[in-house]
Amino acid sequence: NVPTFVDALIARMTLEEKAGQLSLMASAWGGGAALSLNPASAGPNFQQQVDEARQGQLTGVFNGNGATMARILQTAAVKDSRMKIPLIFAADVIHGHRTIFPVPLAEVASFEPDLARRTAEAAAFEAAGAGIDWTFSPMVDVARDQRWGRGVEGGGEDVLLGRLFAAARVQGFQGSDLKSTERMLACIKHFAAYGAAESGLDYNTVDISEERLREVYLQPYKAGFDAGALSAMASFNEINGIPSTGSKWLQTQLLRGEWGFEGFVVSDYTGDEEMIAHGYAKDGRDAARIAFLAGVDMSMQSGLYRKYLPDLVRSGAVPQSALDTSVRRVLALKAMLGLFEDPFRRIDVKRETARSLLPKTRALARESGRKSIVLLKNESDLLPLPRSGKKIALIGPFASGQHDLVGPWVVYGDDAKAIDLATGVRSQIADKNGLIIEQGSGVEEPLGGGIEKAVAAARAADVVVLAIGESQGMSGEAQSRTEIVVPAPQQALAEAVAAVGKPVVVVLKHGRALALEGAVANAPAILATWFLGTETGNSIADVLFGAYSPSGRLPASFPRRSGQEPYYYAHKSTGRPNPPGPLEAYKAHFRGIPNSALYSFGHGLTYGKIEYSGLKLSNPALTMAGSIEVSATVTNRGRRAAEEVVQLYVHQRTGSVTRPVRELKAFRKIALAPGQSETVRFTLRSVDLAFYAKGSRPTVEPGTFVAWIAPSAESDGVSGTFELTA
Ligand code: IFM
Repeated sequence: NVPTFVDALIARMTLEEKAGQLSLMASAWGGGAALSLNPASAGPNFQQQVDEARQGQLTGVFNGNGATMARILQTAAVKDSRMKIPLIFAADVIHGHRTIFPVPLAEVASFEPDLARRTAEAAAFEAAGAGIDWTFSPMVDVARDQRWGRGVEGGGEDVLLGRLFAAARVQGFQGSDLKSTERMLACIKHFAAYGAAESGLDYNTVDISEERLREVYLQPYKAGFDAGALSAMASFNEINGIPSTGSKWLQTQLLRGEWGFEGFVVSDYTGDEEMIAHGYAKDGRDAARIAFLAGVDMSMQSGLYRKYLPDLVRSGAVPQSALDTSVRRVLALKAMLGLFEDPFRRIDVKRETARSLLPKTRALARESGRKSIVLLKNESDLLPLPRSGKKIALIGPFASGQHDLVGPWVVYGDDAKAIDLATGVRSQIADKNGLIIEQGSGVEEPLGGGIEKAVAAARAADVVVLAIGESQGMSGEAQSRTEIVVPAPQQALAEAVAAVGKPVVVVLKHGRALALEGAVANAPAILATWFLGTETGNSIADVLFGAYSPSGRLPASFPRRSGQEPYYYAHKSTGRPNPPGPLEAYKAHFRGIPNSALYSFGHGLTYGKIEYSGLKLSNPALTMAGSIEVSATVTNRGRRAAEEVVQLYVHQRTGSVTRPVRELKAFRKIALAPGQSETVRFTLRSVDLAFYAKGSRPTVEPGTFVAWIAPSAESDGVSGTFELTA
């Protein structure tokens, strides 16, 4: 539905103006947390960008700060440029704008896609209010190697969760009316398989079968597009020898031809230029030609399109019609966003402040935070802690202070506006002055005398809360790690504190699943708390003191050792699986450890005591056109209310190609009062059992299936078998 005025505009544009509409640049005055920047202090680069807008060399800018500056630039575009085409303002609103929500991976632990829809909606409300039309989010790359730093921005290791959260986030950002000043355009990234980088090294090669690509990695992107996302970002990696940015198969045949995508594709930053280093393009001109002809409509930051596209068209290397098609896509989106009607519709200095960090948005951040926390271990019901009567020592580099709260990939969030752990804890205990706080260690370096003071603090306390893990700089882009462990100085701190003999609650901060060792792994209680954003301390304290009974489940498996990576639950069996029990030689395992997770995907405890019983299948056989009901009874035998995430897994025993040992097919979060039971029912149809055996079409094969209803991917739960009949 491209408005007719778009074609009228295109008919009047020069080649240079057309290439300008396909050129996106980083803001020349920078992002940051300050609400209003003073244009006078913006520097000469800002003036140059204003001139580029006047000359029609820009389609928009990204990660700029503040409505004041955006207004100046937009004025230059719509008043002073020849074509008067409005700019589009983009930003990496990854997990919140001013109010920062849990990192995306953490939020997936809620197993509540609608929560992600609500936080995306709230982020759009703040960001669109501050002039942002387009977010470079959601990132939906499946990540099965925890060494990779960018898993923190995505949906974890599982296909079903990846699909559901991708769709929910798109719906939250975009809503049903892109013209709304409370919504913004979503961007599915990074297309494709960025998370499958060899050895978890960021930007690295991906060599993968088409079947695995389609069955695993492509699924969440497709779900995001099906949910209505109208922009996509190409990925940095190559796939089977072709950089994604230069892959016509990916960006045109699959995305547009097969999937019917009608929006536009942008490069990831200088991804077009990077094809030179990949060894796929000779020079900048060649890179622009390859990326453009592959189907990447817009170039980000390299400037290659505005530099070379006009001449590539004049020389016949790029058809004029292809240029017009890409410009039409971009202008159509600007029209859908309402920018031609009112280029300033989202740019409003007063609204920017009025919508920032509102109590209702902070309340949502707190809710989202506590639902993202996973209780990994709770021996002897150490948690929840009493609010009075026990002296608490809060120890570790993340115990207090305005740092490492908002988490990685935040452009506009501010640690100074966030609640740290000490503040959250203090607000919930009776003896506000009785809390002992010791840093104990730096994040990656020891702190002189820190351990001695921490040991003294532990001695003086009844219980230790040990806040340790990764800083926010240790995950995110270009932050791959070889050893996904708690850094050595903090491990030493944990060993020393544990040796005091007081009960220790480990509160982990992390942007990935970690391999826990020694005193950290052996602590009686462990909470995985990721990076929870603006309300970090309150969310954690809600769980620590029982105002909220933890309900999060791991979206990524915690391995026993770093060397197991990539470790994911939906792996294949091998011909020599090692059965549970003592290790057997010449069966698949690494020396000395079982071939399983320390805490598997889907794991998470509650403050109740949950029991699974009585798996029932409505029929021993499922027909291709029929359905089958799988049910089980879930009971809370504990003394506290709990929310349980009941999970349905399936395994096909034999197929024309081998199948994963388990795959998540459905889940449901239920609330159970003490003593309460509920029968949870799932419906399975044959399409739910489809997979890619050969080539590009899914298939469903008759055979025997095992179904488990279980509390995690590697727990027994209750199980039964059924036949899928032809
Ligand atoms: O959106 C990001 C992308 O995820 C990584 N490279 C830079 C882009 C723009 O900031």
